[in-house]
Amino acid sequence: MTPLSLLCMAVSVALITAESTVYFREQFEDGDSWRSRWVESNHKSDYGKFVLTAGKYYGDADKDKGLQTSQDAHFYALSSRFEDFSNMDQSLVIQFTVKHEQSIDCGGGYIKLFPSDLKQEDMNGDSVYNIMFGPDICGPGTKKVHVIFNYKGKNHLINKDIRCKDDEYTHLYTLIVNPDNTYEVKIDNKKVESGSLEEDWDFLPPKKIKDPEAKKPADWDEREKIADPDDKKPEDWDKPENIPDPDAKKPDDWDDEMDGEWEPPMVTNPEYNGEWKPRQIDNPAYKGKWVHPEIDNPEYTPDNEIYKYNSIGVIGLDLWQVKSGTIFDSFLITNDPKLAEEVGYETWGVTKDTEKKMKESQEEDERKKREEEEETRKEDAKDEEQDEEKEEDEEEEEEEQEEEEEEEEEENETDSKLKDEL
Ligand SMILES: *[C@@H]1O[C@H](CO)[C@@H](O)[C@H](O)[C@H]1NC(C)=O
Repeated sequence: MTPLSLLCMAVSVALITAESTVYFREQFEDGDSWRSRWVESNHKSDYGKFVLTAGKYYGDADKDKGLQTSQDAHFYALSSRFEDFSNMDQSLVIQFTVKHEQSIDCGGGYIKLFPSDLKQEDMNGDSVYNIMFGPDICGPGTKKVHVIFNYKGKNHLINKDIRCKDDEYTHLYTLIVNPDNTYEVKIDNKKVESGSLEEDWDFLPPKKIKDPEAKKPADWDEREKIADPDDKKPEDWDKPENIPDPDAKKPDDWDDEMDGEWEPPMVTNPEYNGEWKPRQIDNPAYKGKWVHPEIDNPEYTPDNEIYKYNSIGVIGLDLWQVKSGTIFDSFLITNDPKLAEEVGYETWGVTKDTEKKMKESQEEDERKKREEEEETRKEDAKDEEQDEEKEEDEEEEEEEQEEEEEEEEEENETDSKLKDEL
């Protein structure tokens, strides 16, 4: 065999082993048919409704259609099933787009991947999942990308802070988990975080711990400087802080019997030295900071399969939203990061600029409209006064209604805390 043909063989073998699989893809491009693929949970009776729409502005009226949360202050619980698989020995890529076109105040924008034994009709916040991934916003304090893994029955949050997008455009979120126990998070096809699963989550106890046997020796001197033992306080150091004013004179008309004995007022003593402190010198006995020696943690056992899930079979949106309007689209689960990147560019990548332009031109139109209205208002200043009175009445009514509505709202815990803070 020639070296060239050998090379060709090696290349084709590489291509075969790197075969890509798409486990799940959802673009919502066939009208209402998505309803046959997605199941709404009835764990609670009042989950918020998802509707199919491209929203107020978009890049492509059809392609940008996705699922939008449509009711304020509601929990949402919707999921879709695909053929059960394990990510053993393979990369796992989860990708989707999120558009918070309502300018979100508090609400989730993440997905959950479940094992296939999930009962979709009963999916709820306590359902066991494998991975939770995506943006979460709640007030100014929470604007992060969650990456939570279930490891041996416990959910572990990433110990790095990944900031999510909080504008009103569509953004592409991607999580890649590799069989070498590394991961990568991308937003809009750009890497925002990466590293090792073991280091960035506390799945395993620490490799090293402080030796419980080791103690700092009693004579270990950690003082870098000490007072110079040869430095003595000068004998004439101590002087009073205040002295009678030497320039003061007893007034001529001072009457000792009437005014009492005359005393000069006190002034600051220019010779006062303050408190004496010995000079500081390097401590000849200084040993440096004592470092607690470490030993291998007996409780640590390495695990090179942290990344692995035996069963992945359902993707779900299990969320709480105060202000609804978020649109989810372009779901993709695959073993091929390259493919996901390409799909990202072909979907989000193609429509993002047009979406931006459409939003900007809408804002421009609104601005013009406002200006025109302002003009007309100025012209009929008199009518306006009368109108104002009416408006005030209406506003009061509206406020009352809003208050009533708010009382009916359910809340998740953080949301009620937020309200307390305000
Ligand atoms: C409530 O929902 C917000 C938005 O998703 C989230 O940030 C927060 O953690 C949730 N709180 C609880 C207690 O679930």
